[in-house]
Amino acid sequence: MHDLLALIETGVPAAAATGGALYARERAPRLYWSLVGLPAALARVNRGWADTMEACGLTTSPAMWRVLAARQGDATEVRPTPPKLRAVVPTTRGVRLRMRLARGQCLADVTDALPALRAAWRVHSLHASEVRPGLVDLHIIGFDVLRRVVLPARLAGKAELLRIPVAMTDRGAVYQRNYRVMPHGLTLGATLSGKSMYGRNLFHSLAGQDVAVVGIDCKRGAEHTPFAPRLSALATDADSALDLLRVLVDVEMSGRFDLVCSYMGIPRIVPGEDVTADIWGLPAKLRPAPLVLIVDEVAELFLSSGSKPDEARRNEIVKLLIRYAQLGRSSGMFVEVMGQRFGSELGKGATFLRSQLGNRVVHRVHDIESSRMGLGDVSEEAMHAATHLPEELPGIAIAGDTSGRWQRIRTPYRPLAETAMHCAATAHLVPDLPALNAFRPVPPAPVDDLLDDVSVYLPDPASAA
Ligand SMILES: Nc1ncnc2c1ncn2[C@@H]1O[C@H](COP(=O)(O)OP(=O)(O)OP(=O)(O)O)[C@@H](O)[C@H]1O
Ligand SMILES: [Mg+2]
Repeated sequence: MHDLLALIETGVPAAAATGGALYARERAPRLYWSLVGLPAALARVNRGWADTMEACGLTTSPAMWRVLAARQGDATEVRPTPPKLRAVVPTTRGVRLRMRLARGQCLADVTDALPALRAAWRVHSLHASEVRPGLVDLHIIGFDVLRRVVLPARLAGKAELLRIPVAMTDRGAVYQRNYRVMPHGLTLGATLSGKSMYGRNLFHSLAGQDVAVVGIDCKRGAEHTPFAPRLSALATDADSALDLLRVLVDVEMSGRFDLVCSYMGIPRIVPGEDVTADIWGLPAKLRPAPLVLIVDEVAELFLSSGSKPDEARRNEIVKLLIRYAQLGRSSGMFVEVMGQRFGSELGKGATFLRSQLGNRVVHRVHDIESSRMGLGDVSEEAMHAATHLPEELPGIAIAGDTSGRWQRIRTPYRPLAETAMHCAATAHLVPDLPALNAFRPVPPAPVDDLLDDVSVYLPDPASAA
């Protein structure tokens, strides 16, 4: 009896602690990391630093003076020199180790040793970056940060103009879509891979900024209509997309160039391509609001039944999109194009347009050819990585740009209702762009009505369970 009671007294708390730890690891990985993972990782790093470095090939032969000094003394053996651990900085997702490399070592030596170090310290992932020659940071990531993505709350409402926090990288950093640096972007992915969620996150963050947001959604507006209150214009089929693009390029963009030219004293006969000044050179009170055009399912705009009018419409749309991308940056007009594939099979002009879209985000794709369309001119490695993205994690993608840099990212899950309500609440930020008035979607119900009727957007609790 006594034995049984003792077993219960020790066993129950131990089982509860283990169960709690396992639950926290699944449901609250950051908490688990802070309480369990971090102390364990620090213990492994500190214990036998020199041994680990030696085992992972990160030591160098000892200096001659140390060998000679050892010979004078009693020491029988002089150990190779490991890098020096200079700082240990814990974070909510991992820990950063700063190390001074031994003489003759460089970042490439550390990069080669990463798989061995990761196994030795038993951590989720490990990356290295150079602070300056000879000084390297090792970034330990304690858990899979892409499994449950939450963007830091401090970013909400504080984003810089046109620098949009949209996803999390697998290194635990925030991925920002910076339109001032990469004016146009292409987002690809198989069906249900998370392209529209990426777009939804863009809408959500852009809605809070002094920016005009325009949508082209040839799925009859199924994706963009809920954001109508915050949209300056919306086209829901190829015909209205053509009308909208004509106005965007021939009226809005031309008007912006005229404004820049007259302010800078440039004669209007100079073609837009040759105007090097841009709207950012205008005083704030004259400067038109930047405009971001988001195109969902771009292939719909390229389709044609082969009939003459269809063909003419398609060709004009493509021509206008190319012109938009060519001249957009200096007039503060940006474009984000989404689709399942974007290659030469879309016909004349497709690959030329693609070359203008420098920022690339490729979600899960089924074949290397689809991946090549987005990442072929970024990096071969990135291209292969996009074909191995896990199906059970929609929203995960490879983000790169034509400079060759790439990384793995995932958007946070954002319910449609959340972005729809945010767009309704920020409707007063729709800038005054008279040229687009004819394309403003039907004014929505006031925000209070929307909040009352939120059940329209929310999933049925019974079906969600
Ligand atoms: N970041 C994410 N986190 C969690 N779930 C996601 C994420 N992104 C997408 N999903 C889920 O995947 C589903 C499909 O996403 P989405 O509609 O964005 O895909 P898509 O690529 O646009 O598909 P389609 O080509 O059919 O339009 C969403 O309804 C959502 O449930
Ligand atoms: Mg979609």
